[in-house]
Amino acid sequence: MFAIHRLAGTADTAIAGLLDAAFGPDRHGRTAYRIRRGMAWLTDLSFATFDESGALAGVLQSWPVALTGADGAQMPLVMVGPVAIRPDLQLHGLGRKLMDHLIATVDALPAGESPPLAMIGDPDYYGRFWGFTTQATGGWDVPGPVERHRLLARVPAGMTLPETGMMGPREIAAA
Ligand SMILES: CC(C)(COP(=O)(O)OP(=O)(O)OC[C@H]1O[C@@H](n2cnc3c(N)ncnc32)[C@H](O)[C@@H]1OP(=O)(O)O)[C@@H](O)C(=O)NCCC(=O)NCCS
Repeated sequence: MFAIHRLAGTADTAIAGLLDAAFGPDRHGRTAYRIRRGMAWLTDLSFATFDESGALAGVLQSWPVALTGADGAQMPLVMVGPVAIRPDLQLHGLGRKLMDHLIATVDALPAGESPPLAMIGDPDYYGRFWGFTTQATGGWDVPGPVERHRLLARVPAGMTLPETGMMGPREIAAA
């Protein structure tokens, strides 16, 4: 029970129901949603866990976003979140399991392919277990209100991110 699976294949209605339960139905106006507006979540980096009846118990979505500099150059980032556990199952280690799985997946990528991760979340949680900090994000802009201490990044060893830029959807190169 509570194994971690890819999120792909889970009904959109089940995902929306869980997110409404965890965050409330007004969640769509959040700055995190504006940062990734129009993007589709990343199937390789989005995960789910299910209870014994097969109902969705937890979800973690990751999105392709970017930090765009004044010259228009984009630094690709992976935006992590929402991470949401069904209210009746919170604080039993499921959030940790989902995040552990994401971090293990990212860290197992070949050197140079591990993406920088960004998120808006509780620093006590995401810093304590997975090393997210505000170190890189102090000069970043976001398209909406944000509590600066909750704008977090996890940067692969050896990589330096731009000090300034606007977070937003990633521009997909035309085929
Ligand atoms: C936040 C959330 C994902 C955490 O998952 P969870 O399964 O409930 O929590 P876990 O069992 O993984 O918690 C592990 C530890 O982190 C602590 N913790 C949990 N949420 C925390 C938070 N928001 N801030 C600080 N610490 C937190 C727990 O107390 C626990 O501590 P312990 O090991 O010392 O006992 C989940 O509670 C949730 O969905 N909350 C509502 C939605 C939300 O706020 N999502 C996060 C923003 S994207």
